[in-house]
Amino acid sequence: MAISIKTPEEIEKMRVAGRLAAEVLEMIEPHVKPGVTTAELDRICHDHIVNQQQAVSACLGYHGFPKSVCISVNEVVCHGIPSDDKILRDGDIVNIDVTVIKDEYHGDTSKMFIVGKPTIQGERLCRVTQESLYLSLRMVKPGIRLRTLGREIQKFVEAQDFSVVREYCGHGIGKGFHEEPQVLHYDADDGGVVLQAGMTFTIEPMVNAGDYRIRSMKDGWTVKTKDRSLSAQYEHTIVVTENGCEILTLRKDDTIEQVLVNEG
Ligand code: CO
Repeated sequence: MAISIKTPEEIEKMRVAGRLAAEVLEMIEPHVKPGVTTAELDRICHDHIVNQQQAVSACLGYHGFPKSVCISVNEVVCHGIPSDDKILRDGDIVNIDVTVIKDEYHGDTSKMFIVGKPTIQGERLCRVTQESLYLSLRMVKPGIRLRTLGREIQKFVEAQDFSVVREYCGHGIGKGFHEEPQVLHYDADDGGVVLQAGMTFTIEPMVNAGDYRIRSMKDGWTVKTKDRSLSAQYEHTIVVTENGCEILTLRKDDTIEQVLVNEG
C-alpha cells in the first residue's frame, strides 16, 4: 500500500486528535504516584477520553486488548496490560501509551513517568530515549530518506551504551491506527521511502538499558526485555511540512518546539 499524503482538512483533524492524546498524558501526570495501581490509572484515562473528550480509545478492543491505554513498567518494553495487581513503587519507570480517535482520525503518543524518587539509571534511560526521539524529529523534512531517522537514533542510543528494540516500530497514522510506512528506529532497509510534505507518522523508539532482545509473555500482550533490564519509550505523532515537521501530540512538559524548521 502506498503512503498517503494528507490534505489540509485531514491534517486539521489530526491536530485535534493529537492534542487530545497529548492532553490525556498531561491529565494523568499527578496521578502517577507510589501506591497507585496501573488499573486505576487506566480507569482515569478511560473516563477522561470518553466523558471529557467525547473521544474513543483506539486501544480498547484492538485485536482484543482489554484496556484503554498500555502501561508498561520497568522491564516491560510495551503493551503492558493495566492491572489491579500492579502497584507502582518509588523509582519505577512507567510508560503510558495513549491512542485516541476523534472524528475518525487517530492521535498516538506515549511518555515516561518516574514514580516518586528516581533511580540514576531509570532517569538516564528516560532522558536518553526522549533525546533520541527529539534528535530524529529535528531531522525530518521532505526529501530525506526514512532510513536516516532510524540510523541516527540507533547511533545516538548505542553511544550511550543502551540498545534499540528491533521488533516494534513507528507507523503511518490517519484514519488507520497503523498505516504505511513502518518507521524503524535502527538502521535497516526502508524500502526506499523518501519523506514528503503531508505524510503523517509516529516515531516511537523503545530503548533498553541492557540487551535489545525481548520476550513476549503468555498473556499474549506484555513484552519484556529478555535480560530483565529497564526499558523506556517516547512517542509523538507528526506531520511532515514543507521545511520540517509539526508535532501533533506536543505536551506542555515537552522541551522541543511544536513546529520544527530544518534548513540543514
Ligand atoms: Co504508535
